[in-house]
Amino acid sequence: MSAQYQLNGRSASEIAASVERGVASGALAPGDPLPSVRALASSLAVSPTTVAAALSELRRRGIVVSRPRSGTRIGERPAVRARSAPVAPAGARDLASGNPDPAFLPDLAAVLKDLPAPHRLYGDAPVLEELAAVAGGRLCVVNGALDGIERVLAAHLQPGDAVAVEDPGWPGVIDLVRALGLQVAGVRTDERGMVPDGLDRALRGGARAVVLTPRGQNPAGSAHDAARAAGLRAVLTPDVLLVEDDHLGPVAGVAWLSAAGSTARHAVVRSVSKWLGPDLRCAILTGDELTLARVEGRQSLGPGWVSGLIQRLTARLWSDPDVLALVARAREAYVERREAMLAALSAHGLEASGASGLNVWVPVPDEDAAVRALLATGVSIAAGGPFRLATPPAVRITTATVKPAEAPPLAAALAAAVRPPRRTRAA
Ligand SMILES: Cc1ncc(COP(=O)(O)O)c(C=O)c1O
Repeated sequence: MSAQYQLNGRSASEIAASVERGVASGALAPGDPLPSVRALASSLAVSPTTVAAALSELRRRGIVVSRPRSGTRIGERPAVRARSAPVAPAGARDLASGNPDPAFLPDLAAVLKDLPAPHRLYGDAPVLEELAAVAGGRLCVVNGALDGIERVLAAHLQPGDAVAVEDPGWPGVIDLVRALGLQVAGVRTDERGMVPDGLDRALRGGARAVVLTPRGQNPAGSAHDAARAAGLRAVLTPDVLLVEDDHLGPVAGVAWLSAAGSTARHAVVRSVSKWLGPDLRCAILTGDELTLARVEGRQSLGPGWVSGLIQRLTARLWSDPDVLALVARAREAYVERREAMLAALSAHGLEASGASGLNVWVPVPDEDAAVRALLATGVSIAAGGPFRLATPPAVRITTATVKPAEAPPLAAALAAAVRPPRRTRAA
């Protein structure tokens, strides 16, 4: 926390507002620690109960995170927009952001040139027929995977309910769960995804929902095989809400093996972000009828529907043979690039995971030191902190744009950071 930033306030809501102002102004950064309840109560001359109430309000809204032993900190992605969001340092090669390679995204301008754009009016059906035809069956259209996940969780859960999430997992989901006032129950993942025993424990501990990434898991690249999907299905009980995130779709590079089948409430959200482009903000939501009806009903009270322009563009891209050929090339390139990076890391004795998707996850003893060392070579990678709950330190390297020949020097730089060469004493 910036030494200059003074928290203030006499009531819980004033104290909470002063923390939020600090985040919004950039004086309090993600991960910054807050003083203990006792220290803050004494410096503000209020009771510890008042401070505890302020922190609980901030936790409920996803601004701060409290962990046993490490106290309360500003969350990694607090639900208050800071005026100056952190960006990769100017000039650094960005292997931190998890983006697809823009060279494999379709040329939108070419398709937009002759896309019909009739006005749609209030009362028209929320889903365009041409999109339902390519995506298949009964579905809702939402603004991306995360929007779909939020809508499904909100359709079934109450603040305070616990949601089992993958650990390591995507901060988008972890932070969203917190911002919805839900409890995060981290469950260990291995190279085949969430571990059934861990899920069983979380469910016995009261978790009412689980969010799974059956393939291209972010950050570790895990992917279900048939046995893992069956193992997860076996511990899921009918009353649990199962949400599955297919954020990579056809560029995941492996089959889709769902754990669905034993719960009454189930949703799959399929995003086009990674293969048609994140700016489409478009995803297809399928699931049981009650879930879809609730999502559609709530959506109709808010944004109404996803713009017909976006739906028509998505449908057109999805059915264009040239686009589908590009997507097939993307899939192959992503597999090749990820595997080349894994091989290069392994050649340097670094065991990384990345069975599918756009990233590899490399355990390291000190993730901030590893990130700094790579930055010194002009490459920005992601520290694992925001992705981890109980998982040990690691870094995430996005391999989407890394050509196979570029992998060995990157792996060498990371290996040197992790195991700096011993200084030999001059003779
Ligand atoms: C696991 C996971 N789900 C969802 C998304 C984002 O999907 P969308 O852009 O459709 O919200 C990402 C983006 O990296 C992701 O890693």
